[in-house]
Order: sequence, then C-alpha cells, then structure tokens
Amino acid sequence: MKIMIHGGFFSESTQTEKTKSLKQEALKEIIQKSFSYLSDNSAVDTVVFAVSLLEDNPLFNAGTGSQIQRDGKIRMSASLMNGETKKFSGVMNVESIQQPIKLAELLQNENDRVLGGEGANLYALKRGVPNFNVETEERFQEYQQRLKSSGQGTVGCVVLDKNGKLAAATSTGGKGFELPGRISDSATVAGNYANNYCAVSCTGVGEDIVSAALAAKIVTRVTDGLSLKTAFLKSFEELSEFDGFAGAIGIDAVGNIHFSESHPQIVYASFDGIQLSVFQ
Ligand code: GLY
Repeated sequence: MKIMIHGGFFSESTQTEKTKSLKQEALKEIIQKSFSYLSDNSAVDTVVFAVSLLEDNPLFNAGTGSQIQRDGKIRMSASLMNGETKKFSGVMNVESIQQPIKLAELLQNENDRVLGGEGANLYALKRGVPNFNVETEERFQEYQQRLKSSGQGTVGCVVLDKNGKLAAATSTGGKGFELPGRISDSATVAGNYANNYCAVSCTGVGEDIVSAALAAKIVTRVTDGLSLKTAFLKSFEELSEFDGFAGAIGIDAVGNIHFSESHPQIVYASFDGIQLSVFQ
C-alpha cells in the first residue's frame, strides 16, 4: 500500500517560510489520515478521501480557498479515475460546492460522467449536495489586489491499495483571474489518469498540461513498458520543448513513486506506512 498527494505549486509571489511549514504540516496530517483510511478501503475511495481533505484546507487552491475568476466568481473542477474499471468522471466549473471531488465520485455511476457548468450545478442540486461558500478572505483580498499567480494551485492524490489497484483524483480552483468559461486540465485525462499500470495527477498551468497530454501520456508510456521514472522524464522533456509549466505525481503497480516539476516547486508528500516524505 502506498499513497502520494500533492498541493500544487508554491507561487513565487506568496511563498514564505511560514506558508511552507504550514503546508508541510498540512500534507503530513492529511497523508497519515489517508493512509490509515487506505488500510480498510480501496484505492478509489482513498483518493476521494484524501482529495476531499485537501479541498477542505484553505491553504490549497481547491474547494475552500479556491482562486477567484475574473468576474468575481469561483468555479472549480475535479476528476476521479478508477484504474481498475478505467472509468473517468469529473466536473468542470462547478460553483458553491464544498468538495467537488465528491461530485466527481457520484458521477462514476452515471452514463454521462463528465458534467460542466450549469449542468454540473443542477446535478449537484438533484443529488442533494448542499450549497457551500468556498470563498476565503485571503483569496478575496488577492482578487481585489489582482495578485495574479497563474497555476500555483490544484490538489491531487494517487494510490496503490492492498489489492494492487490504482486510482487518481485531482481537484482545482483553477488559475485565478481566468476568463469565465475557461476549462481546466484537472477534469481531463491530461490532468488526471489511471489504469492497472500507473496513476498520475498533475498540477500547473492547465493549457500546458493539456498541450502535453501529460497524465495520459505518462500512464501510456508505463503501460507500454517504460519505467515510471523514464516515462516521467520523457514526458517532461517534451513539456520543456514549449516551456510548459507543470508538475505531476505518479505511482505504478508495484509501488514505485515519482514526481517531476518543470519549475520549482511542487508541494507533495508520500507515505507507505513507514517512510513519510514531504517536500522540503
Ligand atoms: N491545473 C489547474 C488549472 O490550470 O486549472
């Protein structure tokens, strides 16, 4: 059993020693809780559990604490992929939802598994998901001061469970100050992908992640026989050809883990019950 989570990038403008240690502590707590949940639960349930904890923590740009778009509204995206069933589900640009990843989880059982905007909001209402204000004072002040810092956010989790099953989940408040209607990578197979061989969750600038088809490409390379590390290196080399801004975490079917970042610094942690690693 192994788990890896990420909390997006530090923005160069807002990184301080204090936020760094707060994020390190938050990731340690969340990964330990999630690992203990994993001992009695599947990979797919655990990635949802871990990402919902990250969404509830206002330090991270997903759920509570999401960035505000140019028109003053918060629109969030999240997706879930079950590596065993190969089912991908997600929501794009949902509003006023505490944990968008839970909405993506509900959609696993539907024929229409990726919903956007108004339809996703209506689906949440129909399924009895309550309205929740995810805006924090800090994000509002940032918005007012127009402290734009693209691509710093997003949270994600990849898991290998005790039955050898893999899953990935990713959730984001977007880039911040984007045009309403902009689509994030987080609810696409570029930002979140898993099968029986590998699970990957990405963070960074959605446009770059989609251009690189990053998560799906890494997983495909591992499926075709490359090691996890080589698959990451090759895919990030291709990203660097157009100076793409992205980070990713991944795990394979035998529990190898890896992360890569095009720019410093992705905020991540991994845990196998003994060895706990947190970004420095
Ligand atoms: N990766 C988050 C976004 O660009 O929306």
